[in-house]
Amino acid sequence: MSRQKKPLDLTGLRVPVHVAIIMDGNGRWAKKRGLPRQAGHRAGVENLRRVIDACVEFGIKILTIYAFSTENWGRPESEVRGLMRIFRRVLDQELEELNAQGVCLHHLGDLEGIDPDLQEKVRYALELTKDNVRLILNVAFNYGGRAEILHATEQMLADGVSPADLTEDLFSSYLFTRGLPDPDLVIRTSGELRVSNFLIWQAAYAEFLAAPEYWPDFGREELYEAIVAYSQRERRFGLLSES
Ligand code: FPP
Repeated sequence: MSRQKKPLDLTGLRVPVHVAIIMDGNGRWAKKRGLPRQAGHRAGVENLRRVIDACVEFGIKILTIYAFSTENWGRPESEVRGLMRIFRRVLDQELEELNAQGVCLHHLGDLEGIDPDLQEKVRYALELTKDNVRLILNVAFNYGGRAEILHATEQMLADGVSPADLTEDLFSSYLFTRGLPDPDLVIRTSGELRVSNFLIWQAAYAEFLAAPEYWPDFGREELYEAIVAYSQRERRFGLLSES
């Protein structure tokens, strides 16, 4: 039986161009059901598919997801292996569909730090999808905001950038998100209220939304509600209200 999608009206709403998501709560989602954590991560990937479809439907142009942080290496080895296995499977089984859908994949983070075969799959996926324009999907994998800032600084020093030439725009052009607008809306699921080293430069003026649902339960309707909430925010970027 095919489940009818509830019609959701975007009229009059301000749809954010760039949404970034900390997909938190897979483990707790699984625990609540008496399942292993890996089942939570698998449910998280299934949900990611729903959220990508919803982004395309709502006209969001850039989605950035926090899939694996530099700190996540500290989790038990079996969980790290499980997450790598999921990442491999996504690249093997979802790439064709993502490409057909017009998704352009970007990677944020240190590719060198992951297994060579996985690096190869990522490079192939980036190359295959590079001309797609419907949705840019930034996958932060082996990513940390502080490491990104250090990496950018090292690159600028290596390029001999002079302090006199240093501007915020120039600095941004050395980040993994180079060429992309900053996130308008950062969502963290599972009710947690932390930034956890995610896009700490780029999200300086982003609106933040803490959604109560665990990530596997944050679907199309919850994303719609997030857009409604975002539309009601007044973004001042440090200036005064326009009243
Ligand atoms: C946070 O939940 C989630 C993660 C650390 C991993 C997120 C990864 C996926 C959804 C799948 C990977 C996606 C791709 C594209 C490779 P948690 O484990 O911290 O949950 P908890 O706080 O309830 O324990």
